Amino acid sequence: MFKRRTVTGLMAALSLAPTSAAAQAVPPLTRIALGSCAKQTMPQPIWDAVLAWRPELFIFMGDNVYGDFKSADATGLRQAYEGAGQIAGYERLRNTVPHLAIWDDHDYGANDGGANFAHKAVSKQLFLDFWKAPQTDSRRARAGIYDSRVIGPPGMRVQIILLDVRWFRSPLRITDQRGAAGKQRYLPDPDPSKTMLGAVQWAWLAAELRKPAELRLIVSSTQVLAEGHGWERWGNFPLERQKLFDTIRDSGAKGVVFFSGDRHIGALYREQPTGLHPLYEMTSSGLNMVYWNAREPGPNRLGALYAGANFGAVDIDWRERKLTLALRDQDGGVQRTVTIAFDALGLAG
Ligand SMILES: [Fe+2]
Repeated sequence: MFKRRTVTGLMAALSLAPTSAAAQAVPPLTRIALGSCAKQTMPQPIWDAVLAWRPELFIFMGDNVYGDFKSADATGLRQAYEGAGQIAGYERLRNTVPHLAIWDDHDYGANDGGANFAHKAVSKQLFLDFWKAPQTDSRRARAGIYDSRVIGPPGMRVQIILLDVRWFRSPLRITDQRGAAGKQRYLPDPDPSKTMLGAVQWAWLAAELRKPAELRLIVSSTQVLAEGHGWERWGNFPLERQKLFDTIRDSGAKGVVFFSGDRHIGALYREQPTGLHPLYEMTSSGLNMVYWNAREPGPNRLGALYAGANFGAVDIDWRERKLTLALRDQDGGVQRTVTIAFDALGLAG
């Protein structure tokens, strides 16, 4: 646990430009918590467990509020942020724990929304205001809210990459059998013109992966590795999913781990793409939105789904050179976990 002085230091560093050297002038991260899907009109008792775990950093992975709206005044989204601001645990975390945020569809403003959503500029402004991005923040002056930080000293740097899988995303291919197992809403679309990130964000990501860092936490609100279901996932655009692996491989980046939300279930995944170190993914969803009946095959899943309220906890042991991913429940108890040696992520000793 950082001393109070240090928490304040990281808080201040996170509000600086991503390239700022100040973000690296803090102790190495060892405890990072993550979560998604927090409906502001329902109780959110999980914050006590999150705060009790004493994360040095919390990452909001989207559906941070539920504020779908259809007219330019964005009333639904404004009210959603006001509601979240009145939840004691949520506010306590925002006031005392350094944090980063990316959106998913319901704080973007449209269920399963993509590039075509007409009011995304309004959503972006409300997002950046709620998350207190400074007026000088580069996200205010460009398309999308993708973002990154490198935190910690050389040799113990954690890069956090927050992908925007909404602003630029091409239309999805609608299922021919709504609700059917494996094709609930969407079918894989191999159209090479379809994009998940858009050209500018792809180029940005390739450059980010070349910045010096040891561990790289890539946050995508929608699942990257998961197979076997027809909800939103990178597999909806299989060529883009492969491009993500290719981009990581071509950059030479090691230590990459994925984190996602969206699904109202928690789960761990592992995949071994050709020419890359094994990729792990922790899906943590939701903080209070849960899909108790979830059932799905998981060819690359590690163990069973967890279908209760959960948050993700990442313990980094720099001395033993390993990290532990854990899904923790509303009481802080560990429900699913995997420990990964740095060596297994391609990091040289
Ligand atoms: Fe959600």
